[in-house]
Order: sequence, then structure tokens, then C-alpha cells
Amino acid sequence: MTSTATHIGNFQFDNCLMNAAGVRCMSIKELEAIRHSKAGAFVTKTATLEERAGNPHPRMASTPLGTINSMGLPNKGFPYYLDYLLSLQKENADQSNILSVVGMSQLETHVILQTIQNSDYQGLVELNLSCPNVPGKPQIAYDFETTEKLLKDIFTYYKKPLGVKLPPYFDIVHFDQMADILNQFPLTFINSVNSIGNGLVIDDETVVIKPKNGFGGIGGDYIKPTALANVHAFYQRLKPSIQIIGTGGVKSGRDAFEHILCGASMVQIGSAFGYEDVPIFERVQKELQDIMTEKGYQTIEDFRGKLHYID
Ligand code: DHB
Repeated sequence: MTSTATHIGNFQFDNCLMNAAGVRCMSIKELEAIRHSKAGAFVTKTATLEERAGNPHPRMASTPLGTINSMGLPNKGFPYYLDYLLSLQKENADQSNILSVVGMSQLETHVILQTIQNSDYQGLVELNLSCPNVPGKPQIAYDFETTEKLLKDIFTYYKKPLGVKLPPYFDIVHFDQMADILNQFPLTFINSVNSIGNGLVIDDETVVIKPKNGFGGIGGDYIKPTALANVHAFYQRLKPSIQIIGTGGVKSGRDAFEHILCGASMVQIGSAFGYEDVPIFERVQKELQDIMTEKGYQTIEDFRGKLHYID
């Protein structure tokens, strides 16, 4: 019998597949739907200090190969998600989940993380360093100095398990530089990758989303090769205590298998979860198990990171 169970830090998950932040995870109703599905866990919509309405509509569109979005961090404010996760913790719900957060400024990020540090929350937190869609705000993790300083400041007071969500990188030197920064800190995980920022999709003569005159984050089939490269580049460079959540272009068991082969310990599904809703977790799990059975792998550790090269 094959198992897709995994762990991130000290947290165990029955299934390595889960949602990616941003898709169908803004309300408790949506999070409960994931919690009661075959997904191994859920991650919340990235929460800011205060509730946000996000960018004007239309702010997301699909193409045959994926999605473009410029949501602008709509969310219910981080206390909504923290209170919900604390209530699950109190009920001793058997599953761990991930709280995704970021401030609209460094100060706000510190307020959020200090509040979590001082709360009873014992679960995983993912700090989103890669939202591409807030006008005037850069993707933090493309600024290496700011990222290093931010993490340095955070780890002076933050003692709970923390991960960071990264944007895709496209240069070997950038993989080296970012890995050198991340390796200085007691991070539990990274999540690689967020959407490829600031793409442009055109229908006839017009952009398809309203914010930023059509520029938005790209997901889906377009991004799988970039996602796999990022997962593997960080797998080769990070200290083993920093695990990797692989995200980007996953819609089948084969895609999840490739992410794990590149080194991912957990795999998130974004655009395709948007299309298929919660049944996708069982379908992709079954397809992954079929591949594992065919190859004689019983657990994901049997092939995780064991990508073959051509001699
Ligand atoms: C949004 C989009 C992202 O890709 C992300 O990581 C965070 C937020 C958004 O626009 O809401």
C-alpha cells in the first residue's frame, strides 16, 4: 500500500497535497471544505493586519494554459484566521494547517508576527514575501537586502515554526544569493513558487483584468518548469532543516510526482484547485499513488529529491 503522508517540521500530514494560498481559502466556509476533503492540510488566504477588499474587478481570468490574477490581497484580516485556527487547536482537530500572513509594511508584519508569537497558536505560519499585485508595493523577496533585514528582525522575537513564500527566481546567482540568506535563519520551510509576477494576457485588443492595466500574477501550466527549477535549485542549496513546499503548475499526479522528485516535501495546488474544487485532492492523490505503485515506491521519501541527471 502506498502512502502520500509527509511532515513539515514536527507536523505530520496524511497527504502531501493541499491548496495553495489565494484560491478558495478566504472564508471559514472555504477552509472547512478543504479541511473535510482529502487534502493533507489547508493554508489560509494571505492575511494582513486589517481586512482588505482587494483590487477592483475583474481581477482574475483564465486561459487554456492557466490563470492571471491581480487580487490585491483581499482578506478578512489576520485575527479572523488566527481565531479560527485557535478554535481548531482547542477542539484538538487532528490536522495541522498553515496561516499565511504579511503586513502592508515591515512594521505591520512585525505586529502580526508578534501577536502570533504571544498567542496560543502552535501551528505553522507562512510569511508571504511575494505578492506581486499591490500597486506600489514590490515583491519583497526580490529585494535581497530587505529580506535579510526583515528575517533578522523577525527571528529576534519569533520562536515558533515559520516558513516563507517565495517568488520565482530566474538566475542561478539569485538562487545562490537567496539560499545564502535563508540558510542563516531557523526557518522550518520555504514555499516555492508564488505566481510569476506581472504577466499580461490580451483578448482581441484588450487586457483581461482591470487592476494595473492588465498586469497580473501568472499561474497554471505556464509556470510548472519555473516552479520545478526553483524547488530543485533550493533543494540543492538549503540546509536540510529547511523543508520545501512545491507550488506551481500542479494539476495531476504526474505534476506532484515531479515536484517531489525535485525535493518538495509537500505540494500545493492553486489554479487547478480553482477549476476543480476539493475533489482535486483525491484525484491527484490517486494518480500520484498509481505512479508510486508502478515504480515500486511506498512513501514519498523513496523518491523525494532523487531527480536523475544525464551523465
Ligand atoms: C495576491 C496574489 C499573490 O500571488 C500572492 O502571493 C498574494 C496575494 C493577491 O493579489 O491577493
